[in-house]
Amino acid sequence: MKQIILTGDRPTGRLHIGHYVGSLRQRVILQNSGEYDEIYIMIADAQALTDNFDNPEKIRSSIVQVALDYLSCGIDPNKSVIFIQSMIPELTELTFYYMNLVTVSRVQRNPTVKSEIQQRGFNTSIPVGFFTYPISQASDITAFKATVVPVGDDQAPMIEQCQEIVHKFNQTYGETLIEPKIMVSTNATCRRLPGTDGHAKMSKSLNNCIYLSDDEKTVREKIMSMYTDPNHIRVCDPGCVEGNCVFTYLDAFVHDGDFEKYLPEYKNLDELKDHYRKGGLGDVKVKKFLNSVMQEELAPIRERRAYWENHMDEVMDILQKGCEKARQRAMETMAEVRHAMKIDYFNPNDPIIK
Ligand code: TRP
Repeated sequence: MKQIILTGDRPTGRLHIGHYVGSLRQRVILQNSGEYDEIYIMIADAQALTDNFDNPEKIRSSIVQVALDYLSCGIDPNKSVIFIQSMIPELTELTFYYMNLVTVSRVQRNPTVKSEIQQRGFNTSIPVGFFTYPISQASDITAFKATVVPVGDDQAPMIEQCQEIVHKFNQTYGETLIEPKIMVSTNATCRRLPGTDGHAKMSKSLNNCIYLSDDEKTVREKIMSMYTDPNHIRVCDPGCVEGNCVFTYLDAFVHDGDFEKYLPEYKNLDELKDHYRKGGLGDVKVKKFLNSVMQEELAPIRERRAYWENHMDEVMDILQKGCEKARQRAMETMAEVRHAMKIDYFNPNDPIIK
């Protein structure tokens, strides 16, 4: 069986390092592993509109930002197809048919949808489009016959819902769709990187993000003012590493060679943490180390961004070609779905009147 990846992001702003350690970094590794036959990376504008329908300009401008973020991280348009969701009308078509296979109470049980309804204050006035986005997400995945969906762990309920739809569809209309598997980061810290203020979630509205597009100075300033342990006042005080952003970020970013290079007094992160717990290790020293480690990983991303920002025509061309390729694939699946559902009325190989 072909190994196919589909994943994507809502274009509601620039991507930050939470997106990066949670999924983007892994996508690039998967892309370059050579283990996948096809890779689709979708900019989910239609889904973004389900809770931003009154702010289309935000979505429109974010599409280019997200595309730049992808390319900067090393998504290679020769290996991965980058495309825009709304340019593939088959996805909407599929969604309409999948809606028959899902009950209202099933969508209501989806924990991610539940918490999003709360966050957005929808209460009882939930837009139908927003409510049904998990069904549309099943279309995104199945239209490409994706076998693997690398995403953040908040997306697990969506993949589960998709698996149920696939099961129900195949059972009702015959084996047609492929059941996907979720792939989440194996590093627990990477699955949910906190904001620089210690808040559990990195989010634009909380102003606690480090963006992939931030310049070197901005990143350094954000790191130097990061939340640590509020009780670690003097250098000699014992400190706590749990819930201390600087250490959490080190968990997500540090590599074996980094100590030798930037902080040779310590062998590894465990030794550094032990010293901090005992007391005698100052925040500034740890922050400077984190800065060196992160800048090293972010520098090539920044360089690639500078290249693409100067080649915007190429970026637009990549998107347009990506949409064409993706559309082709989705049309093939749609034809199979129409056939399975017996709505391919003018199929010369299967005429209505025999
Ligand atoms: N829901 C995802 C997010 O909020 C975006 C998304 C839309 C997606 N369709 C998808 C992710 C299909 C994976 C597969 O980031």
